[in-house]
Amino acid sequence: MWEYTEKVKNLFLHPQNVGEIADADAVGEVGSIVCGDALKLFLKIDKETGRITDARFQTFGCASAIASSTALTEMVKGRTLDEALKVTNKDIADFLGGLPEQKMHCSVMGREALEAAIANYRGEAFPAEPKEKVVCKCFDVTEDKIRKVAIENHLTTFDEITNYTKAGGGCGECVPDIEAILRDLWPIKPPKKPATPKKLTNLQKIALIQEVIESEVRPGLQADNGDIELIDIDGNKVTVALRGMCTGCLMSDVTIKGIQDKLRELVNKEIVVEALIR
Ligand code: FES
Repeated sequence: MWEYTEKVKNLFLHPQNVGEIADADAVGEVGSIVCGDALKLFLKIDKETGRITDARFQTFGCASAIASSTALTEMVKGRTLDEALKVTNKDIADFLGGLPEQKMHCSVMGREALEAAIANYRGEAFPAEPKEKVVCKCFDVTEDKIRKVAIENHLTTFDEITNYTKAGGGCGECVPDIEAILRDLWPIKPPKKPATPKKLTNLQKIALIQEVIESEVRPGLQADNGDIELIDIDGNKVTVALRGMCTGCLMSDVTIKGIQDKLRELVNKEIVVEALIR
């Protein structure tokens, strides 16, 4: 499902700057384990020059969160705080040779941790306005964050917002609010003409589902030390079991939804994916 660059794979297997700085001058903590990703960034800052002399991190997240955190710490070392604040989430993704769209939220989390740490050093509140409206309760994403990330990365669709912030990737209750924010930000685009669905025989459909799982889904899960087992196909109902690191993962609902979206896109828009828990 996800194609990682060699650099992401390498930095996941050999992360740098992992751990805490006991006497850190600044600490920035973003995300939450409940939401599936969390990052704590520690900075050591030279008071004379205002330059970052060391940067380390602790993270709870997937391969791209670990690689993005390594990239961030490498990029900010030696910079002044104002120079460091110029590092965008796109710079982090570029440092890694790119990230899968569905994993761009890891680069956004890195940029956020940097802002939080520098605000902490400067004695400022982070976020600046503590009473920001939370749009997505599942992932604790505020309206300001959605607007900021959408503008910085020129995101125009709901799926892009989910890829970059996770907002909307859970129960889906916030979808209308996110779409309203996008309509407010960008001119309405004409809807794409839907592709004419292909009529498949039952055997063709089963073969295509197996092929999509093998080529589009399994490699991405295996890259995160997870796996998938196809249990049954009954009409449009596909039953799967998540294996390896995906078993019992807090993000398993999001993973199942991603698999369902992929099968709907490539096989049949009526497909429903269910997870077998055992
Ligand atoms: S409130 Fe946003 S996905 Fe549940």
